[in-house]
Amino acid sequence: MNFRKKNRPHLSSTLILILGFGLLAFALAFLSTPAQAAPSFQEDKPSNDFCLACHQEEGIDKTLGSESLPVSINPTQFGESVHSKEGIACVDCHTDISDYPHPDVKSKSIRDFQITFADSCKECHEDQYDKAHDSVHQTAFDEGNQNAPLCADCHNPHTQPRIIGQESGLLTIAARKEVPATCAACHTEIYDAYKASAHGNALADGNTDVPTCTDCHGVHNIGDPTTTSFHNNTPALCADCHDNEEIMGKYGLSTEVLETYVSDFHGTTTTLFEQQFPGQQVNTAVCSDCHGVHDIGRVKDAETGIAMQENLLAKCQRCHPDATANFSAAWMGHYQPSPEHYPIVYYVNLFYKFFIPAVLGGMIFFVLTDIYRRIVNRVKGVKHA
Ligand code: HEC
Ligand code: HEC
Ligand code: HEC
Ligand code: HEC
Ligand code: HEC
Ligand code: HEC
Ligand code: HEC
Ligand code: HEC
Ligand code: HEC
Repeated sequence: MNFRKKNRPHLSSTLILILGFGLLAFALAFLSTPAQAAPSFQEDKPSNDFCLACHQEEGIDKTLGSESLPVSINPTQFGESVHSKEGIACVDCHTDISDYPHPDVKSKSIRDFQITFADSCKECHEDQYDKAHDSVHQTAFDEGNQNAPLCADCHNPHTQPRIIGQESGLLTIAARKEVPATCAACHTEIYDAYKASAHGNALADGNTDVPTCTDCHGVHNIGDPTTTSFHNNTPALCADCHDNEEIMGKYGLSTEVLETYVSDFHGTTTTLFEQQFPGQQVNTAVCSDCHGVHDIGRVKDAETGIAMQENLLAKCQRCHPDATANFSAAWMGHYQPSPEHYPIVYYVNLFYKFFIPAVLGGMIFFVLTDIYRRIVNRVKGVKHA
């Protein structure tokens, strides 16, 4: 007991002293390392010119199994790329190569070789890497679908231009126009439909207000669009733009599409349904059931437009198989009744607005005057009696 009491302060001060020296030594070592290490690393690094001396030659190949991979790199194109301009060297990505002959390559196909680069962008683009690893594409890849895209399938590392404006911090217009073509490499049919659509058409003309693939699906963290929640969320997705007066004003398009949709039987049912059974797919029509998704056309298009009754009827018939022309004609669409649109409905409404107050008012007036007459009569009768 005694012994311990006496020695405790002594022991801890020794410990503090040792710890203090340790920390000081560590800090000194830590501060001096980078200054020493960085330059020697730079000096050893083979230059791009060294690699390009051979690789700018056209027509050179690498044999991988039964396939042959072209290994020529165009120095001008590489020089224009964002990586070259940012001073990223060949060997920053090709970390295993420093000389010729190169180390053995074990891949037996071009795809196998490309897959060995799957993690090569992570070091500098961790944000995109993390997102991409949480996407339908990665899921497909993990399930063995080697066609699912890796970074380099959407971004050629040797020619990739800058796509984010340095001042604006936004995707450049040129890059925005290219987005659908990036996806087209694998989603050909959807791309063709999109290109011919009202949105795709406008994008090709440089319109930056219309959605590209990535506005609706996300870029690196693309989710599964076949889920119930994605489907039920469609009206909100479209309304993001179609409810916006500032955007829609430019094109003379109605911003009442969501409001009128929600107040019609489909929208009302969808809203109630979602509140009662969250997570279950609604069976009523959402925007895309009438308008399509990738193939959205102009509503007044003479051939496909759904402002044309027969085109609209075909959409209704998918869920109302017995519907006839009268059926779709009876739907007022997104219009609030007005003298221009649905005048009969408008005037009937108007008529009722006046007719009902007039009839009810008249009756009340009649009843009141009658009561008054009776009271007066009675009073008079009492006086006379
Ligand atoms: C002396 C010429 C020469 C130089 C210098 C050279 N390469 Fe190559 N490289 C080739 C040839 C030829 C091939 C294709 C066949 C082969 O591997 O021999 C090739 C293949 C490649 C490949 C394909 C896969 C592989 O690993 O074989 C990559 C990647 C590559 N080189 C990168 C580089 C980089 C990066 C540098 C600079 C550090 C570089 N090369 C320097 C001649 C050269
Ligand atoms: C930003 C990273 C990056 C830089 C910088 C880079 N590469 Fe590559 N390189 C890759 C990736 C990733 C692949 C795999 C390509 C794929 O998946 O399509 C590749 C593939 C290659 C190939 C195989 C043929 C091909 O095109 O697929 C050669 C050869 C090559 N690189 C040489 C070079 C040379 C030479 C330089 C410098 C002038 C260079 N690379 C700079 C990332 C880079
Ligand atoms: C050694 C670091 C490094 C590696 C590895 C690297 N990059 Fe980059 N990358 C950069 C830098 C730096 C920029 C310029 C970004 C900036 O200014 O914000 C850039 C820009 C880009 C851009 C354009 C972004 C913009 O702001 O316009 C894309 C796309 C890109 N890289 C894709 C890739 C892909 C795909 C790979 C892997 C094959 C890769 N990078 C590997 C450093 C790297
Ligand atoms: C399916 C195609 C696809 C894949 C796979 C992909 N990207 Fe992208 N990436 C794009 C598109 C398209 C853009 C343009 C951004 C937009 O539409 O907003 C972009 C933008 C970028 C940018 C610019 C900054 C930003 O976040 O917008 C960087 C950096 C980048 N990608 C790096 C990567 C890296 C690293 C990987 C792999 C982990 C990768 N990308 C995988 C299609 C892809
Ligand atoms: C290199 C080929 C490739 C490229 C490029 C590509 N994809 Fe994919 N994508 C696939 C594969 C493979 C699948 C998984 C198989 C499938 O469901 O079709 C997939 C799945 C998807 C899915 C989920 C489909 C479903 O039914 O669940 C969406 C959404 C998608 N991709 C959007 C995009 C977008 C947006 C782009 C462009 C930014 C793009 N993809 C670029 C190959 C690609
Ligand atoms: C206006 C929003 C929007 C745009 C733009 C858009 N999509 Fe879609 N996409 C959707 C919706 C909504 C679905 C789900 C469809 C459903 O409910 O059946 C979908 C479904 C998909 C699917 C999976 C189902 C299928 O039809 O195979 C893929 C793959 C896909 N989109 C890729 C793309 C590509 C590639 C582009 C660009 C060329 C694109 N999308 C543009 C909204 C959009
Ligand atoms: C990123 C904003 C944005 C999103 C999201 C969006 N749109 Fe659009 N849409 C526009 C713009 C802008 C136009 C006008 C293009 C023009 O007239 O050149 C347009 C045009 C249209 C048209 C053609 C109207 C006509 O007849 O001229 C229809 C129909 C349409 N969108 C429906 C939809 C549907 C349905 C969705 C959801 C699946 C949707 N949009 C999602 C911006 C958007
Ligand atoms: C995706 C499927 C789907 C499409 C497409 C669709 N409907 Fe419906 N509709 C429904 C469902 C389900 C109900 C039942 C809602 C309820 O019980 O409240 C309904 C209800 C109705 C009602 C209420 C009276 C009734 O029969 O129950 C009318 C009227 C109607 N729809 C008209 C139309 C018209 C007009 C079109 C075409 C422009 C159309 N629908 C397209 C699914 C659809
Ligand atoms: C039951 C079918 C149906 C549904 C559901 C539907 N629409 Fe429409 N939409 C139409 C028809 C028919 C027209 C053309 C006649 C009209 O404007 O009423 C139209 C017209 C439009 C227009 C052009 C408006 C203009 O000013 O010319 C836009 C934009 C639009 N719809 C977007 C949407 C959006 C966004 C949703 C979902 C919130 C949606 N629609 C839901 C059938 C539908």
